[in-house]
Amino acid sequence: MKIALFPGDGIGPEIMEQARRVLDALNLPGLVVWEGDVGGAAYRRHGHPLPEEALQMARAADGVLFGAVGDPDCDNLERHLRPEQAILGLRSHLGLFANLRPATTFAGLEGMSALKPEIARSIDVLIVRELNGDVYFGEKARRQLDDGRRQGYDFMSYAEDEVRRIAHVAFRAAQGRGGKLCSVDKANVLETSQLWRDVVVETAADYPDVELSHMYVDNAAMQLVKDPGQFDVIVTGNLFGDILSDQASMCVGSIGLLASAALGERQTEFGTFGLYEPIHGSAPDIAGEGKANPMAMILSLAMLLRHSLGREADALRVESAVAKALEDGVLGGDLGGTAGTSAIGEAVLERL
Ligand code: IPM
Ligand code: MG
Repeated sequence: MKIALFPGDGIGPEIMEQARRVLDALNLPGLVVWEGDVGGAAYRRHGHPLPEEALQMARAADGVLFGAVGDPDCDNLERHLRPEQAILGLRSHLGLFANLRPATTFAGLEGMSALKPEIARSIDVLIVRELNGDVYFGEKARRQLDDGRRQGYDFMSYAEDEVRRIAHVAFRAAQGRGGKLCSVDKANVLETSQLWRDVVVETAADYPDVELSHMYVDNAAMQLVKDPGQFDVIVTGNLFGDILSDQASMCVGSIGLLASAALGERQTEFGTFGLYEPIHGSAPDIAGEGKANPMAMILSLAMLLRHSLGREADALRVESAVAKALEDGVLGGDLGGTAGTSAIGEAVLERL
């Protein structure tokens, strides 16, 4: 089993260090661990946010554990050199089109949610976000109009096969959960969304056991705070999924708790090749202070164990160690507590 660790920028290295401790404690037989540079850190060392070496390392691995990228000092670089290109490049070069972002309440944390506790308690949703298309990867540029005004544009599109493959992932996920799928789009305004909806409806014919509904993204944003318990699986495009998954995290309590998996079609000896990362960013404001909550990073490791290494029992062990730590009141600053990064890592290890 080979895995690549890419700590990245900001709080990435400190939270990755804690995930690494958990990984070491599991003592997996025959595990090989590589470490690579990505993001602003890689730009400084190698002149590119996603050096060829890192890409090759990812390709050779069974799974990639990714910290975070983003660095305010790089905001003025040309877009193709910005740290974010590391994650966008990995997603597209590796064909990681299916992003699974589960958001579930943790026992004892209902009071931390931005929602009323009785509403927060009901949240158990899996957001399936398309990750290789949409306005993220369309032609984008700035130009000057004839009258001299500057204009920026980003081309939004989905081809039917791109919609169909993510729809299949979502329908299958719904079959394995509560049997309900809500497809989120903006079909009342966007042609891209109308095609999305048509293809999701066509795909539904293969899944008569799944109850399919559709919702416009503005309404979905509202329903997610009004009554998150109504959702089982949500499937949506790249941009809407980015926004709704951050929102879902605050329904749970903190963005420091949500992990994600980016999967493609490549099978490895042990499972599906994937890239795993917290849904939060590099949090440059607290980087290096030992304050960041490493739980989302550790939970991302659990997803890697499950999907890419076929180690379901180990994944469950890690997840329940995190849940127990939370239940025991081991809370980081993001949850109103005082536990620091390594203290949280320690608490998870003890419970493991
Ligand atoms: C995420 C992040 C990324 C995205 C950024 C860092 C490019 O916000 O994974 O949700 O927009 O996909
Ligand atoms: Mg995001």
